[in-house]
Amino acid sequence: MADEPLILGIETSCDETGVGVVRGHTLLADALASSVDQHARFGGVVPEVASRAHLEAIVPTMQRALTEAGVTLADVDAIAVTAGPGLAGALLVGVAAAKGYAIAAEKPVYGVNHLAAHVAVDTLEHGPLPEPAIALLVSGGHSSLLLVDDLARGVTPLGATIDDAAGEAFDKVARLLGLPFPGGPYIDREARAGDPAAIAFPRGLTAAKDLVAHRHDFSFSGLKTAVARWVEARQRAGEPVPVADVAASFQEAVCDVLVNKALDACRSRGVPTLVIGGGVAANSRLRAMAEQRAARHGIRVRVPRPGLCTDNGAMVAALGSHLVASGVAPSRLDLPADSAMPLTTVSV
Ligand code: KG4
Ligand code: ZN
Repeated sequence: MADEPLILGIETSCDETGVGVVRGHTLLADALASSVDQHARFGGVVPEVASRAHLEAIVPTMQRALTEAGVTLADVDAIAVTAGPGLAGALLVGVAAAKGYAIAAEKPVYGVNHLAAHVAVDTLEHGPLPEPAIALLVSGGHSSLLLVDDLARGVTPLGATIDDAAGEAFDKVARLLGLPFPGGPYIDREARAGDPAAIAFPRGLTAAKDLVAHRHDFSFSGLKTAVARWVEARQRAGEPVPVADVAASFQEAVCDVLVNKALDACRSRGVPTLVIGGGVAANSRLRAMAEQRAARHGIRVRVPRPGLCTDNGAMVAALGSHLVASGVAPSRLDLPADSAMPLTTVSV
């Protein structure tokens, strides 16, 4: 609908420069420039390299997004930008760009939380999010379970990882198996040819004694170590490592814990909607398992398509659009980038 606000979103918290344009819940453009190839040989994102790449990509990506959406900056009603959490130097590029465009075009600016944006992006595919909802947020840096009462004003954390994030575990195990960075998509692909029951890897924080204090928390570092020990033992014995079986068994362990804990959170709070967001939500096994198991409990699962799960500008625009529609006031023009922005802060 043409009378709904037109929102531009800018994302630069990690290694993707993203600019998205949405009108209401409709996605008009999602332009992306990735520096992932520049980090691959280091096996992880190098902050200085990422910042420099954002600086080079931000203006062309902005132009591509506006062209793709068929609008000009003058048509835009508000600019949303990821203000945190993320890499400080990388965030600064997006925040500075957003301020510059906002001042030049006299538009309000919203500094938003990257993690809340991973939840909000689902509205572009499935419409308004029923509240309350439970959100499972699984990315390279975070794994959390949230109660979403009011996405525009705040979320309630129920639990989080006590060590590695789910995406981090995928990346570390991929490295161990000699797969490229970032490892999630490669494990996903390898696992299709493997047997998920080949190796019984541990499910962190699922034993009865752990559930008392950590019912809604995750732990993936023990799993990562178990995979490392298993692979080392094979190598020491001079036997080939069955990469597909290890990938499938590891992936099964991660997904089993994520899905069971997310559905348990839904049941314990009496919430019938589960939304999954973040890069790991692109995982094919996680998506299928969540659908299957949720159906048994009458819980509806909402997961955006894989391209919207990993970092992008559309997710930031989607959250900006929700904030505008909810009557939330814009940020001050001196808004800071906050690399450690807490999950409970939706916008600054
Ligand atoms: O949300 P995201 O793009 O960036 C952060 O905010 O961290 O998430 C990136 C993470 C990486 O760890 C990557 O390996 C993982 O998401 N990932 C996947 C898949 N696609 C991306 N993990 C498992 N399966 C996938 N298909
Ligand atoms: Zn992310």
